[in-house]
Amino acid sequence: MILVTGGAGFIGANFVVDWLAQSDEGLINLDKLTYAGNRENLAALAGDPRHIFVHGDIGDSDLTSRLLSQYQPRAIINFAAESHVDRSIHGPEDFIQTNIVGTFHLLEAVRGYWGSLHDDALQGFRFLHVSTDEVYGSLARDEAAFSETHRYEPNSPYSASKAASDHLVRAYHHTYGLPVLTTNCSNNYGPYHFPEKLIPLMIVNALAGKPLPVYGDGQQIRDWLYVTDHCSAIRRVLDAGRPGETYNVGGWNEKPNLEIVHTVCALLDELRPRADGKPYREQISYVTDRPGHDRRYAIDARKIERELGWKPAETFATGIRKTVLWYLENQDWVRNVQSGAYRAWVERNYGERQP
Ligand code: NAD
Ligand code: TYD
Repeated sequence: MILVTGGAGFIGANFVVDWLAQSDEGLINLDKLTYAGNRENLAALAGDPRHIFVHGDIGDSDLTSRLLSQYQPRAIINFAAESHVDRSIHGPEDFIQTNIVGTFHLLEAVRGYWGSLHDDALQGFRFLHVSTDEVYGSLARDEAAFSETHRYEPNSPYSASKAASDHLVRAYHHTYGLPVLTTNCSNNYGPYHFPEKLIPLMIVNALAGKPLPVYGDGQQIRDWLYVTDHCSAIRRVLDAGRPGETYNVGGWNEKPNLEIVHTVCALLDELRPRADGKPYREQISYVTDRPGHDRRYAIDARKIERELGWKPAETFATGIRKTVLWYLENQDWVRNVQSGAYRAWVERNYGERQP
């Protein structure tokens, strides 16, 4: 079996569900269930004996050591993290604790376990660390996309904490020989995306008749990948990636934020028109920019295609339509994640931004 951390979050839950749809290999899902982790994301697996959910922290090395010796997984995939840039600006500490200190404790537990393995189990073991393109910093409009050898230049507490974790993972390979793999992926979107991030926030606010808050001039560029394509890339890297290597994962889908918001509005105009017949675009509101806002991210995904034959299956047009439809069909999920804590966050992040 394998051990997945953070498998109740957005990408982790999509990964866990996809994994069990494609293989009978069981998995242990270790998740702290922060505001971003939600057991409802795993409702499709209720009663499935192949899925063992454990409520816990990657920073608890007694717990992880116990799980490793009990279940003897052949691989670990580390999704667990604090993941939202705006939250890292308001309060970086949790990011340092989970993304850096937590990853360190996890690596220590894994090193101990890996050292106890023999023969095929030792040879075949992998630790796959799921990271982000944000570690590379910001690109100018005419600069080449991030390759795996691009300099690390993180600009937010979030990206700095992910960069630190990438460095620790790398060091455990070079120093101790731990067979690690690292993926650095661009912005994901799709079902179960927490509505603090751009795309789900715009869908949810649009339907609620609320303003659509575009930071600054809305011309910041991100490279969007449908979440199940990220999941298939991770499976491919786990199967065939070379230990010690990093792989950039992206969708060849660079788009300015404003274009994303316009696309979401147009889809909603078609699928769920406003009662007054006006376009959702009218709800767009330009608000104060994010401090230190990275201007452009773009992934050069040629290495994973060349070496491992991976390519995304979805285009942006197909992926965004599926995503908008999913939110329309899962309004209960949206209501359930919009707890009091969510509302407090919205007030904190947007209350102080000037339209
Ligand atoms: P998310 O915030 O939706 O989910 C994170 C999950 O980790 C939650 O279930 C949470 O409960 C859990 N978690 C947090 N702290 C934990 C801890 N100390 N111990 C155990 N579990 C803990 O995040 P996501 O968007 O699904 O991202 C998953 C991973 O992918 C992260 O490492 C992130 O940096 C990386 N990533 C995300 C994107 C993206 O666009 N969302 C892109 C590239 C890489
Ligand atoms: P986000 O989804 O937070 O991802 P990241 O910061 O990790 O790229 O934001 C995507 C882009 O959308 C980013 O440039 C910030 C911008 N943005 C807005 O303009 N308004 C918003 O309300 C949010 C949440 C993001």
